[in-house]
Amino acid sequence: MLFKQQALLRQKLFVLGSLAIGSLLYLVARVGSLDRLQPLCPIDGRFGPHSQDEIPLQALQFKRGLLHEFRKGNATKEQIRLHNLVQQLPKAIIIGVRKGGTRALLEMLNLHPAVVKASQEIHFFDNDENYAKGIEWYRKKMPFSYPHQITIEKSPAYFITEEVPERIYKMNSSIKLLIIVREPTTRAISDYTQVLEGKERKNKTYYKFEKLAIDPNTCEVNTKYKAVRTSIYTKHLERWLKYFPIEQFHIVDGDRLITEPLPELQLVEKFLNLPPRISQYNLYFNATRGFYCLRFNIVFNKCLAGSKGRIHPEVDTSVITKLRKFFHPFNQKFYQITGRTFNWP
Ligand code: A3P
Repeated sequence: MLFKQQALLRQKLFVLGSLAIGSLLYLVARVGSLDRLQPLCPIDGRFGPHSQDEIPLQALQFKRGLLHEFRKGNATKEQIRLHNLVQQLPKAIIIGVRKGGTRALLEMLNLHPAVVKASQEIHFFDNDENYAKGIEWYRKKMPFSYPHQITIEKSPAYFITEEVPERIYKMNSSIKLLIIVREPTTRAISDYTQVLEGKERKNKTYYKFEKLAIDPNTCEVNTKYKAVRTSIYTKHLERWLKYFPIEQFHIVDGDRLITEPLPELQLVEKFLNLPPRISQYNLYFNATRGFYCLRFNIVFNKCLAGSKGRIHPEVDTSVITKLRKFFHPFNQKFYQITGRTFNWP
């Protein structure tokens, strides 16, 4: 009898203990995400009319869980209707530059509770076949969000593709455009490294960077090489300026985003008229990766995939010098147009 009572007591204690530990864990997780759950200040009207001034708490709580499920296509129509979720066209686009840090920028902005990212590169405006499918096709590619949130997508090919500025202008002439740039020679080498890795994966051989970047006939920089052309930022930007005023662009320093991401993100928050919500808490340096990683709350954090932050091959210093000299006047023009100066050599 006594033994039976003791067993019952142990069972009760076990249940109570489990409940207490569960509640404690829940509380710890909530406290970790409190910063993200603060109601937001009003978002500037430039993003269109808002029926309410702040994102409901519910929206933020659901952002990581429910929205993720919806993105995966696991939501029922009823759930979507119930939570008033919509697929919105982007209010801001990261248009490039390839290898500038576009993924890091998108993922880091997605830390903001008012931002919802399109995870995949959609390639709507640069791909004729996709573009022919129409704007509704594009909108349906967007993640579910609350009406107060803004959707951001990134497709770095937009920056260098001739037809894109006009097409984006036709969709939304007041859209905000983000361009993340790195020192042009480093960006070109990063671009090359990505292509090289693709070739190696297919067991193919590839030229050395020096051979592609320098024209063997003239010994000058090979301006036909795409990795070089992409780094002539001013040429591409000038095409965009035929459609959009410079105020609609924000230039992000991709080199600084690597070493000191927070101030760069704060500038973007300002440009997007978002209340400052991304904090140092959200970004931690991971020594193993050698990069900053993202912390959403006490339980959820992540680093970018291994394909971001590749080791670059060593490049002949005379080629680097030649490239830097080549980019120099274009860089000056770029500083002049954008009003943002970088310490590029
Ligand atoms: P490297 O691979 O040359 O180092 P994109 O996303 O536009 O392809 O840019 C890739 C680059 O983002 C990487 O180039 C890397 O340096 C940079 N980057 C910036 N912040 C990063 C981060 N937190 N984690 C990983 N890579 C980051």
